[in-house]
Amino acid sequence: MNMQATTEEFAATLPAGVYGEKVLSVQHYTDRLFRFTMTRPDGFRFRSGEFAMIGLMVDGKPIYRAYSIASPSWAEELEFFSIKVPGGPLTQHLQNIQEGDIVLMRKKPTGTLVLDALTPAKRLYMFSTGTGIAPFASLIREPETYEKFDEVILTHTCREVAELQYGFDLVSEIRNDELLSEIVGDKLTHYATVTREPFERTGRITDLISSGKLFDDLGLPPLNPETDRGMICGSAAMLKDTKALLEAAGMDEGANNKPSEFVIERAFVG
Ligand code: A2P
Repeated sequence: MNMQATTEEFAATLPAGVYGEKVLSVQHYTDRLFRFTMTRPDGFRFRSGEFAMIGLMVDGKPIYRAYSIASPSWAEELEFFSIKVPGGPLTQHLQNIQEGDIVLMRKKPTGTLVLDALTPAKRLYMFSTGTGIAPFASLIREPETYEKFDEVILTHTCREVAELQYGFDLVSEIRNDELLSEIVGDKLTHYATVTREPFERTGRITDLISSGKLFDDLGLPPLNPETDRGMICGSAAMLKDTKALLEAAGMDEGANNKPSEFVIERAFVG
């Protein structure tokens, strides 16, 4: 039996509403983080910043978790950036996937970190920690982001420098891409910090906002609802603390059906 037949036979066993897609590449960054790409199903549409339910068959049963799609809406392949949780129901298996394996994906993407949920303004801040950079990996490669905003600031904070690498790779990929670099121009700023080892920039993003250091470093005024919009993606604690700072600056939370000044979404956890 050839591999094609195996894949087709497998696809025929999938429940309605689920795609089975082939893994195209896997890249391990640290013992806690990896990135993978897979085929994009025909007819699968999503908005940059949305998430999908990704899964694997484990002992004959599907296990799914929410994953932000890290590739932009126009891309041919789907990309994901994942944590590896020891003993995590999905990630203890997902971290072992290899090229050619099949990953499950439920058909309906969704999410609040979308451009439609924000009202127009001059500047867009994307605040991320850990794998919370994933939806922004999509949005910083989305031309509409730069049609809607003059300046885009992506902040990424991790415990260790090695965990920032995915973000550095992304930005250099944009700079080296003929089409994207023209669209992005000098509108994108990547501001990376770590909290648990020495680096050129250190500290939690919340502390850097509170102290004003973020704005001093960027040469920008403090947060202002007239000019600034925000998107936040990280752990529950990070969302809560960052949201409180945006609200203190007079910014109001938006949603798909009620666009406003900032939106939040929890990064994948288990
Ligand atoms: P810290 O090292 O001080 O805990 P995690 O892997 O735990 O999700 O953390 C990712 C990054 O988010 C770390 O740099 C961590 O800093 C930071 N972080 C954790 N909790 C918060 C919070 N409540 N507000 C802002 N940053 C946070």
